[in-house]
Amino acid sequence: MNRFLLFFAAVLLLGAVIFFFFFPQELGDDVDRAVGEGLGPIGLSLLVFVYARTAFKLLVRRDSFWKRLEPFNIDYERIKTLSGKILFYLNKSHPYFGIAAIAVIYFHCYFISRFYNLLPLRIVLALLAWQGVWGLVLKTRTAPAFLKRKGHLFHSQLITGLLILIFAGLGHFLLMN
Ligand code: HEM
Ligand code: HEM
Repeated sequence: MNRFLLFFAAVLLLGAVIFFFFFPQELGDDVDRAVGEGLGPIGLSLLVFVYARTAFKLLVRRDSFWKRLEPFNIDYERIKTLSGKILFYLNKSHPYFGIAAIAVIYFHCYFISRFYNLLPLRIVLALLAWQGVWGLVLKTRTAPAFLKRKGHLFHSQLITGLLILIFAGLGHFLLMN
């Protein structure tokens, strides 16, 4: 928890420094835009990584998946142990990747547009904040049990990811036109 708190505090501090000290006049619009454009694909990759973990977890935990592979003459027990190990590290690093994804996309939006006034993109920011807040609740060991239950319920919804995809797609489509 301590290492994660340090990471989270560093991201918050970075955000505060950028927000309060890098005004558009100082940095110049072109540099801002370039940074913002660079962060877009990075944010997308981080989100893909976050959901790839979910897909991987759902897949390897399913017995029918392993049963289907039985006819092939390979030592699946070893692969199972390996995938368990990989999942362990993916689970441990998920909160870091989650925070990074959210921060990078907020920075992307800030640098490229200073929080562009387009409803679908604002909804994307709200959905990301929603994921982040419940993620933090799940990560807080001392959070009350009822909050944790709500956290599991709200944070693990794949529909949130679908909505992020739809609204981000719609927002960027509108931006291009
Ligand atoms: C899921 C979240 C998001 C992802 C994955 C994403 C990704 C991207 C990518 C890959 C680009 C193209 C960058 C380039 O031109 O090289 C882009 C452009 C842009 N994004 Fe995002 N973005 C996200 C959310 C947002 C949000 C929340 C905002 C602002 C509220 C925003 C504002 C913009 C703007 C203004 C552009 C420039 C469009 C243009 O070419 O004129 N994006 N984004
Ligand atoms: C865009 C950001 C994020 C997305 C899309 C996301 C998505 C998900 C999904 C779909 C799950 C359920 C899959 C599973 O059970 O492993 C999950 C679990 C989890 N997330 Fe996130 N997450 C994000 C950010 C965060 C953040 C910032 C934190 C912590 C600060 C966090 C902490 C957790 C924890 C602790 C679990 C495991 C719950 C369990 O033990 O079952 N997540 N996340």
